[in-house]
Amino acid sequence: MNDPSIPTLADALLSWFDRTRRDLPWRQNRTPYRVWLAEIMLQQTQVQTAIPYYERFLSRFPTLADLAQADEQAVLKLWEGLGYYSRARNLLAAARQVMREDNGQLPCDFKALRALPGIGDYTAGAILSLACGQQAAAVDGNVVRVLARWSGTAWSAKSLQDRRQAADFVLTHMPAGRPGDFNEALMDLGATVCLPREPRCPACPLAGGCQAYCRNLTAALPLRDKSPDVPTERRLLLLIAAPGFWHVRQRPPRGLLAGLFTFDWLAPDQDPRAFRTWLQGQDNVLVQPLPSLTHRFSHLAWHVDALRLGLPRADLGELAAWLETDGPQPDGRWAGRQELQQLPFPAAVDQYRRQELDEPPKTASP
Ligand code: ADE
Repeated sequence: MNDPSIPTLADALLSWFDRTRRDLPWRQNRTPYRVWLAEIMLQQTQVQTAIPYYERFLSRFPTLADLAQADEQAVLKLWEGLGYYSRARNLLAAARQVMREDNGQLPCDFKALRALPGIGDYTAGAILSLACGQQAAAVDGNVVRVLARWSGTAWSAKSLQDRRQAADFVLTHMPAGRPGDFNEALMDLGATVCLPREPRCPACPLAGGCQAYCRNLTAALPLRDKSPDVPTERRLLLLIAAPGFWHVRQRPPRGLLAGLFTFDWLAPDQDPRAFRTWLQGQDNVLVQPLPSLTHRFSHLAWHVDALRLGLPRADLGELAAWLETDGPQPDGRWAGRQELQQLPFPAAVDQYRRQELDEPPKTASP
């Protein structure tokens, strides 16, 4: 039997949450659709970055039915700059599936939610607890950190088994009436107090019962895996411009940055030095080097070198033979200024487009 004079984890956490909860747009009117969208956006994006994207997305697609009718390019455009675009494509695919199979209502059922594209244990648990009022855990890296420290357990956020154990732990402590608040309180504590490097333990409502705090283990818990080095691909971007037009190409429908637009690339089987030598002999191509950049994806990095190739008119001529041709339109196409502005471009190459359009760089980065 618990000593009633000692507050439980849930009591301490919820009374702290009631005083300090962050007023975030997805916390108003917690419908399954609104919660789902927020949780997908927040998976790889900071709260402050996500807010304007969330609001723009909802004002364009206020309901799941609106989203299901959307064109993929319009959805990707609203996602532009957030990265991890498969999140947006899965969102659209799932909305269409729900319209076909579930009468347009996201199901309040774990198995049915998990069967939708892009919905894993975390998102299903968040929708069930926050929007459906069900007892379900939503364990992300922040929550693993809070609970590994509080319980003094050597969990790692990267381990599926440890996340499952942490989820069982959440369910053991979750109060019957407030599953959503309990999960969000854990998230808020992880985001604002139980910080990875310098936790603010004196401000923590759980410090009194926290094993890591009492045993001076906050730096050791949770276990940290070193992030592995990812392979780097070196690529040469060719920003081909003619008066009033830019040559663009769409990425293939599957794989990295699927469906998004970029400028051209030197084909991978072409030798960059041979290409540069060829360029020197082309009197009608104005060549300008552009800044190089490195862009890291989750499993791979691109080191991008870039050249701007100015042509007298919108005709690739012999240049076409050097270019990568994958994607739905092997020859790419010419876009005018307004279209260039409107096409969904990934953050990896957006700085080149912005420079062409004379737009300031975006501050949001995923
Ligand atoms: N991070 C992930 N989900 C969240 C939520 N619902 N509120 C605040 N931060 C979050």
